[in-house]
Amino acid sequence: MKRFRLTVALPKGRIFQEAYEALKRAGLPLPPVENARALLHGEEGGVALLELRNKDVPVYVDLGIAEIGVVGKDVLLDSGRDLYEPVDLGFGACRLSLIRRPGDTGPIRRIATKYPNFTARLLKERGWAADVVELSGNIELAAVTGLADAVVDVVQTGATLRAAGLVEVEVLAHSTARLVVNRQALKLKRDLLKPLIARLRELAQP
Ligand code: PRP
Ligand code: MG
Repeated sequence: MKRFRLTVALPKGRIFQEAYEALKRAGLPLPPVENARALLHGEEGGVALLELRNKDVPVYVDLGIAEIGVVGKDVLLDSGRDLYEPVDLGFGACRLSLIRRPGDTGPIRRIATKYPNFTARLLKERGWAADVVELSGNIELAAVTGLADAVVDVVQTGATLRAAGLVEVEVLAHSTARLVVNRQALKLKRDLLKPLIARLRELAQP
């Protein structure tokens, strides 16, 4: 494995491009993403870029494999990792919502989600005695098929909800993309990271 000056973890998918461009604009010399099949980009001694599933970004940053990363607040709310979160980048806005079938008002006995920790906290806070079923994607189908009587999932445009004929009962949290930094790396690579954080803050001003 090559050695790098800095390793950056980005989630593949929706926010990859915006995160890549934001870091570039802030002056970070990110490597080009030329080969769509490559998972790790970068030259020896330069900045490396890891393409990860969004849930794995906090793990790589917490364990210090990547010094910094970009990931949605929704993922951080579920991750339970102690990361420094210095910049709200503003893009990737969405919400975590409670979703049900129209007209369903009865008690929630089973709730499906890809955010099991966030959902377990919610149930505890509200004193709801429901089982959490962790699924990996297309969560709305759990409500449509009756696997669960409610789901906790991300709503961005609302298009998926409309297509599934479900209703957003309550917004539980708002989310945007965040810069996350490994706490130890912040001290060890302070000269590199402090100016980057400052520039990202300036650029993220509305
Ligand atoms: C996400 C989320 C919703 C949808 C919300 O799914 O889980 O299904 O986007 O976006 P919308 O309000 O704009 O329709 P995505 O397809 O990203 O991932 P998944 O595999 O977890 O369903
Ligand atoms: Mg979806």
